Amino acid sequence: MATVSIIYFSGTGHTTKLAEAVQKGAASVAGVKTNLIAISGDDIIKGRYQNDAVLAQIDASDAVIFGSPTYMGGPAAQFKAFADATGGKWYTGAWRDKVAAGFTVSNGPSGDKLSTLHYFFTLAMQLGMIWIGLPELPMNDKGINRLSSYSGVMAQAGQEDPAVAPNAADKLTGELLGQRVATYAVKLQK
Ligand SMILES: Cc1cc2nc3c(=O)[nH]c(=O)nc-3n(C[C@H](O)[C@H](O)[C@H](O)COP(=O)(O)O)c2cc1C
Repeated sequence: MATVSIIYFSGTGHTTKLAEAVQKGAASVAGVKTNLIAISGDDIIKGRYQNDAVLAQIDASDAVIFGSPTYMGGPAAQFKAFADATGGKWYTGAWRDKVAAGFTVSNGPSGDKLSTLHYFFTLAMQLGMIWIGLPELPMNDKGINRLSSYSGVMAQAGQEDPAVAPNAADKLTGELLGQRVATYAVKLQK
């Protein structure tokens, strides 16, 4: 059994919906177990993320998918606090060779979301992980990867009713990333 953990922060719920879609895609792959982990601001004490149980869940995972809204052109501070707490994993190489990927939501079609995905990529590379991108072409009638990002999933909240955003196309894109990551987690399982 391969374990795929999705670790994300969401302030107003849009990233949660995308995270659930990513989890659905990952869980659709045979032989895969998923953990959906929300980063809680309550775990940030004096600016530092402190939740050893969450870090241990990721220690035990074969793949990790990072998610955050784009805030001011980058990941939310709550996600960055979690990322900073992985310094010990960098030092020991504990997350080396785990599969990694990422997703983000913002209001604008661009909204500088690429900076957030590239931050996730840099974090994964510092930790020695194996990055999985999104090769879906945007020329399809389902709106899959309509924002044309190949580094990870971009979803847009701003053009929709906030109660339903992100839209079905963006959630389907998230599902496909989850499925792809889970497929590689099974293939590369130690
Ligand atoms: C502090 C803050 C900064 C934001 N910065 C951006 C931004 O740089 N680009 C953008 O398109 N949207 C930006 N937004 C909009 C959010 O990315 C958008 O509302 C997103 O859907 C929030 O996700 P959530 O519901 O998971 O918290 C910002 C929102 C907040 C609260």
